[in-house]
Amino acid sequence: MSTSPSPPKHIAIIMDGNGRWAEQRGLPRTAGHKSGADAVERAVDACIEVGVEYITLYAFSSENWNRPKTEISALMGLLGLFLKKKFKQMQNRNIRLRTIGRTDELPSTVRKELLAAIENTRENTGITMTLALSYGGREEMVDAMQKIAKQVEAGSLAAADISNETIQANLYAPDIPDPDLLIRTSGEIRLSNFLLWQLSYTEMILVDKYWPEFKEEDIHKAVEVFQQRHRRFGAVQ
Ligand code: FPP
Repeated sequence: MSTSPSPPKHIAIIMDGNGRWAEQRGLPRTAGHKSGADAVERAVDACIEVGVEYITLYAFSSENWNRPKTEISALMGLLGLFLKKKFKQMQNRNIRLRTIGRTDELPSTVRKELLAAIENTRENTGITMTLALSYGGREEMVDAMQKIAKQVEAGSLAAADISNETIQANLYAPDIPDPDLLIRTSGEIRLSNFLLWQLSYTEMILVDKYWPEFKEEDIHKAVEVFQQRHRRFGAVQ
């Protein structure tokens, strides 16, 4: 039986419930997102403390483009501000920033901030914080299939040679290991098009609070629960 005494190497989080948190308090939904950005900082700090090497945050999904324009622009503004305001902190904490998703669809101002932060944190050797932006698991598969199809068309790859490794190699961040642990807040129990390929054998923990209420101790608790789990990866152990 294989338990996991070491902390998860990679935690992925579906940060859900910003809107409901705000509505419950009679605040605009954007206030929930603002408060959610503070929770991001707490979660990353706790992950660093525990020794997690990768954290991937679902910050804006492909489907989020269907929200009202005002909410989208508030979220984009918040992201730009977060990158600008937290850049020094990222450097101090030795955080490397990366993104996954169709980031070319983001407003150019946000793209610029992102590219600068990614470039300037490239050499950092601490935790890798990956923001999933304009991200969808199905869209990632479509993009990977198109890249693979081009290689087949060009004659550099035989269709019969397409394997798990070929697909992995054509994902947005092929070198990042699969998440060991997925946390979703707000009590909802679904994947919402997040990391569909990578989550095949990921342990899931549902936290019954809204994302703005998420505290450092929630990471500590989730890691403890994770360490009690028996991961068999489909085998008999
Ligand atoms: C889900 O809550 C959350 C989002 C769609 C956006 C996540 C964004 C943040 C946490 C803030 C900015 C992020 C960074 C990295 C600075 P929801 O709006 O779907 O909540 P609801 O389900 O209650 O409506």
